[in-house]
Amino acid sequence: MGSLTVTLVFLYAVSAVLCTPFINQLQPGQEWPARSSVKQPYHQFDGTENEHKPEVAEPKTAASEVEKEVISDEPQAPLVETVERIDYSGAQVWKVSTEDVQVQRLIKKLATDKLIASWGGNHSSIDILIKPNALENVTAMFRNGDITYDIMIDDLQQRINEENPPLDENELELQDRRGHRMTWKQYHRLEDIHGFMDYLAKTYPSIISVNTIGKSYEGRELKILRISDGKAGNKAVFIDGGIHAREWISPAVVTYFINQFAENFDVESDDIKNIDWYFLPVVNPDGYEYTHRSDRLWRKNRKYGYGPSTCTGADLNRNFGYRWGGKGSSSYPCSDIYRGSGPFSEPETKAISEFFRNTAVKFSAYLTYHSYGQYLLYPWGYDNALPADHKDLDSVGKQMAEAIRKTGGSQYKVGSSSGLLYPAAGGSDDWAKSLGIKYTYTVELSDTGRYGFVLPASYIEPVARENLAGLRVLASQV
Ligand SMILES: *[C@@H]1O[C@H](CO)[C@@H](O)[C@H](O)[C@H]1NC(C)=O
Ligand SMILES: *[C@@H]1O[C@H](CO)[C@@H](O)[C@H](O)[C@H]1NC(C)=O
Ligand SMILES: [Zn+2]
Repeated sequence: MGSLTVTLVFLYAVSAVLCTPFINQLQPGQEWPARSSVKQPYHQFDGTENEHKPEVAEPKTAASEVEKEVISDEPQAPLVETVERIDYSGAQVWKVSTEDVQVQRLIKKLATDKLIASWGGNHSSIDILIKPNALENVTAMFRNGDITYDIMIDDLQQRINEENPPLDENELELQDRRGHRMTWKQYHRLEDIHGFMDYLAKTYPSIISVNTIGKSYEGRELKILRISDGKAGNKAVFIDGGIHAREWISPAVVTYFINQFAENFDVESDDIKNIDWYFLPVVNPDGYEYTHRSDRLWRKNRKYGYGPSTCTGADLNRNFGYRWGGKGSSSYPCSDIYRGSGPFSEPETKAISEFFRNTAVKFSAYLTYHSYGQYLLYPWGYDNALPADHKDLDSVGKQMAEAIRKTGGSQYKVGSSSGLLYPAAGGSDDWAKSLGIKYTYTVELSDTGRYGFVLPASYIEPVARENLAGLRVLASQV
């Protein structure tokens, strides 16, 4: 790192500490502090801000015009700005059975009043985050209603603090010798993930190539890596991760697959070698970086200025163009499941749709990795309906789940996403299926709620290893 970068990182760290908002002081019903004090776009201040600035050669947009003016006024001055880090001290996560309609009603009301936020769930159970200042009140309401619940996480900030410890000395030394910084002992920043992909392309040029299929809203690259021995009869499989920013285990697992196939290609099984693999490990790089920098639990992308209240971000997994706008998605820009202003309104989903539209490759499978819950889900998601070949999907899904269980012991439930969880229109899996890709799955990785999104980094390897076993089953079936 150059000394300027070091200074910037230091300044950022100081500002993050000094400007931490204390959400404990909010009154019930009051909105949490604005999550974005990061000006849009190209005003990143995280030590990597330069790569997001428009290059001279780029076509000018309104945003880059504005940016150019700002820069040319004071070319040397760093754009110092506050990056707030959301503090989740005292927030809890509860698991609540929702079989009783009274409970469903109460939870809906609490969510509307912004006292709680939904983390995940299924037909009969929900995990909710209780905001610290609402804890007393919500506890009283549950007690009055005689509603039972399990406290899964007692202090969320503590879990966040412990989730991603620094690498030990040995690992750091290895890292320096390896040619890339990626490990599966830690959740890495985007820079390390992209550096790893570039390293593999450089090291194994005969089988690996890296391509940028577009840019995120804030200008980060959407990097896709292909592993292929170039045989004519190969099938093709597309795998993505990181659609939802806070699901850190997803890019970690997808990069683990990449590493496994890339480093061992010669000795891999024919099932693996007879497939052209396409990996897009971080679909939502802006959101991913934002969860590292500012709000660990951010879900959406970072497109700015939606709606009169200028809320930030759309849920990319409600923004795909098949049956867009249906059940389980919101037209309200501040919602965590905001579907965007139209199908493929977001640059990240748009880039994926263009990639599929422009490619001559005929994909046999599309897998998208999320967390959490331990499910292997197939279409349809938009409503309680099944594709004509659902028996094939169910059968392969169950074989994958069996391989996962045998390898690592985790139990994954298999079924359609609307059937097992809840209807949600605009998902990438439905859209992929609508393109005619047969084996289309959304994989909800570990765990089932003990840590939820804040799964400690020590889980990366076991979760990835058992899911690699699942992926091998898929490879044998396509
Ligand atoms: C729903 O979630 C609960 C709690 O995690 C779990 O015990 C139950 O088996 C799940 N049901 C289905 C159908 O997945
Ligand atoms: C929760 O807070 C609201 C508003 O402050 C109050 O009206 C209500 O009585 C409280 N409920 C309980 C059970 O404490
Ligand atoms: Zn997700």
